[in-house]
Amino acid sequence: MRIALLGRGKTGSKVLELSAHAVEVFDRSRPATYEALKEFDVIISFLPGDAFRELIPLLLETKRPVVTGSTGFAWPADFDRVLKEKGLAWIHATNFSLGVVVLKQLIQRLGQVSSLFPKKELSIHEVHHTKKVDAPSGTALSMKEWLHQDCAITSERTGDVVGLHTLTLATPSETITLGHEAKDRGLFAEGALWAADYLVSKPLTPGLHPFQKVVETHLSL
Ligand SMILES: NC(=O)c1ccc[n+]([C@@H]2O[C@H](COP(=O)([O-])OP(=O)(O)OC[C@H]3O[C@@H](n4cnc5c(N)ncnc54)[C@H](OP(=O)(O)O)[C@@H]3O)[C@@H](O)[C@H]2O)c1
Repeated sequence: MRIALLGRGKTGSKVLELSAHAVEVFDRSRPATYEALKEFDVIISFLPGDAFRELIPLLLETKRPVVTGSTGFAWPADFDRVLKEKGLAWIHATNFSLGVVVLKQLIQRLGQVSSLFPKKELSIHEVHHTKKVDAPSGTALSMKEWLHQDCAITSERTGDVVGLHTLTLATPSETITLGHEAKDRGLFAEGALWAADYLVSKPLTPGLHPFQKVVETHLSL
């Protein structure tokens, strides 16, 4: 499998380091072109959102499967339909952690049984590095959705923390804690590489597929 990697920053460089397949990098010093990209089996993007958004027409033209972790941009309107009409399958995620897929399952289960605890207080706390611009994190907001309950979210920005998310259910007499700690940005690269392998070996129906759904379908969850 030949991978075209868009962006070789903090996360893209981990894709390069961890891939078992041949990877070629496209960035500002080697801009992506139709002629170059069409030679690859799959394209992975860890470009900033605005740079990725600008490349979308070119990526569509190549007809290659795309895995993108780029965040902070709005998808073109009806993009799922655009991909379906063109017969293309792309996978996207704002968090490519396979561990967070597992966390989602656990949080959903906790939400289902939480009526057992009438005196409960639910809270989510997330910690990230000081350069993160958004707060609360997208993952913390997703955790609240998975819980299906009202729940306070607090955010902390310190040092170079890659990502720490904790959900606590507390009663006066006991506490349940579910959490996930991202220790190295390599975990996002691992998830994106898993998605790229999946797209190439088990072609999906055309459309824009959320990574979490792809993993859940794979596990028959
Ligand atoms: N989905 C996930 O799991 C996940 C995880 C982590 C990060 N992300 C997202 O991935 C994106 C990248 O994050 P990062 O922390 O790796 O960023 P980063 O360290 O700033 O790296 C960005 C890379 O993109 C290149 N680039 C920037 N603008 C470009 C342009 N106009 N044309 C070509 N190349 C360009 C940069 O090249 P230069 O060095 O030359 O500027 C650099 O190689 C962000 O949107 C981030 O939120 C997603």
